[in-house]
This record gives sequence, C-alpha cells and structure tokens, in this order.
Amino acid sequence: MKILVTGSADGLGQLAAKQLIKDGHKVVLHARNTARGEQALKALPGAANLLTADLADIEETKALAEQANAFGVFDAVIHNAGVYQTGAQQLLHVNTLAPYILTALMHRPARLIYLSSGMHLSGRPEWTDKPSYSDTKLHILMLAKALARKWPEVYANAVDPGWVPTKMGGAGAPDDLELGYQTQVWLATSNDPGALVSGQYFHHQKSARYNKSADDILLQDHLLAECARLTGVKL
Ligand SMILES: NC(=O)c1ccc[n+]([C@@H]2O[C@H](COP(=O)([O-])OP(=O)(O)OC[C@H]3O[C@@H](n4cnc5c(N)ncnc54)[C@H](OP(=O)(O)O)[C@@H]3O)[C@@H](O)[C@H]2O)c1
Repeated sequence: MKILVTGSADGLGQLAAKQLIKDGHKVVLHARNTARGEQALKALPGAANLLTADLADIEETKALAEQANAFGVFDAVIHNAGVYQTGAQQLLHVNTLAPYILTALMHRPARLIYLSSGMHLSGRPEWTDKPSYSDTKLHILMLAKALARKWPEVYANAVDPGWVPTKMGGAGAPDDLELGYQTQVWLATSNDPGALVSGQYFHHQKSARYNKSADDILLQDHLLAECARLTGVKL
C-alpha cells in the first residue's frame, strides 16, 4: 500500500512509518523543512520518498497537497503531525487547519487516520479562533466524523495514542510507546473488519469513550465552514 504519514521526522509518526516500511508498504514521509527531512530519511532509509512543508503555514500546506497529488492516490494518509505546548495560532494551524487542507486538496485516499488525544474530552465544541490543544483534538475527531458522514466510501477515523514518551509526551509518560502507533498502522493497512469502519474513535485498537458533541452535525458543519473561511479551501 502507498501511505503518507505527516510529521514522520520524529515520535509516533516516525515509529508508524518505520513499522509500515518494515511491513513492506511504500511510505512517503513528511517533515517541516529540508534539514528535518534529511534526518527523517536518514532514520528511515527504506522510505519511498519525502515531502516537506511547514504545516503552520497555510500556503505551504496547500503546496504540500499538490506535491502529494503528484504521487497519485494514496491508499492511506495518517494525519499525525501535531503541536502541544505552544500558542493558539500554531495549535489552530498545525492541529486543525493543516489536516483539513490536506484532506480537502489531496486526491481522496481509501483510509484517513487522524491523531486526536484523550485530552479532546475537555475540548470546547463551539468554534473559537484561539483554541487550546484540547479544542484542536476535538476538532480533529469532529473532522473524522464529518468525513465518515460526507464521504461514505472512505474509512475516516481518529486515534488517541495514549500518553506516550515522545518529544511531545515527555520522558515520564506512562503509556506504552509501541501501542501508541500500532492502532494507526492497523487502521491504515489491516483488512480486519474492526479496522474497516468509519467515524470511530480508537484507543489501542478498541472504540473508546469520546466527547459526544463530536457527533453533532451542526457543530461539525460549523467547524468545516470556519476551516473553509480561514483557509479559502472548501471540502
Ligand atoms: N505523545 C503523546 O503522549 C500524545 C498523546 C495524545 C496525542 N498525541 C498526538 O500524536 C501525534 C504525534 O505526537 P508525538 O507524540 O509523536 O509528537 P512529537 O514527537 O512532538 O512529533 C510531532 C511531529 O509533528 C511534526 N510537526 C510539528 N509541527 C510541525 C509543523 N509546523 N510542520 C510540520 N511538521 C510539524 C514534528 O516535526 P519536528 O520533529 O520537526 O518538530 C514531529 O515530526 C500528535 O498529533 C499529538 O497531538 C500524542
């Protein structure tokens, strides 16, 4: 299968990409810039290719979608890149708008996987231009659910990887790092009936408790409208 993993220079994205390459898949990596891209390719020499774009930059993200489309249709895209302890604008751009833009502008893959977080449970479902990390992780679950509704031919799901010891999670994170990326790999590639579903929120390959406001169709559509307003890109 041909799979794009955003933010695969480090952390869970790199680990998922490594597993996918090991399993024989054609993996296109993504890094924020050329220097990080070189490091990504050095860490994963079996990768098929590398794309670069700073996801905090709307125009660079649009250009990334165009570059990705040069590879044809991906079987799966893992929207993994994310930021945590930073300002509202960076959170909004990297965690919410970038996956929205890539989803809207890339050729439609068979499977879409979005990295959410258990912290989405305290996210605010009403739109704000100044979101917290939790808000953006609720946005991404709402996006997955909106896509499951609007694009029935696609499997679109969100994942809570657990609190795991990456650069973001910190060295003391208590959860299992391997389990932190296996669900994304499974959703991207497995023909297990459990993975061939849409609009679900997973933790360790099982449906998990989520913020029910993510099911609200009006809130989903409002989110899509705000993303379109801020990016100039319609789904
Ligand atoms: N770790 C956890 O405990 C945890 C818990 C819940 C959810 N998550 C989610 O899991 C995903 C992966 O997290 P992680 O723990 O692997 O974090 P990480 O180690 O900090 O890795 C994040 C990745 O995103 C990339 N990235 C960040 N900002 C970017 C930008 N502006 N442009 C392009 N790439 C950018 C990073 O690139 P650089 O390496 O160049 O910075 C890195 O490759 C995130 O969406 C996160 O919210 C993680």
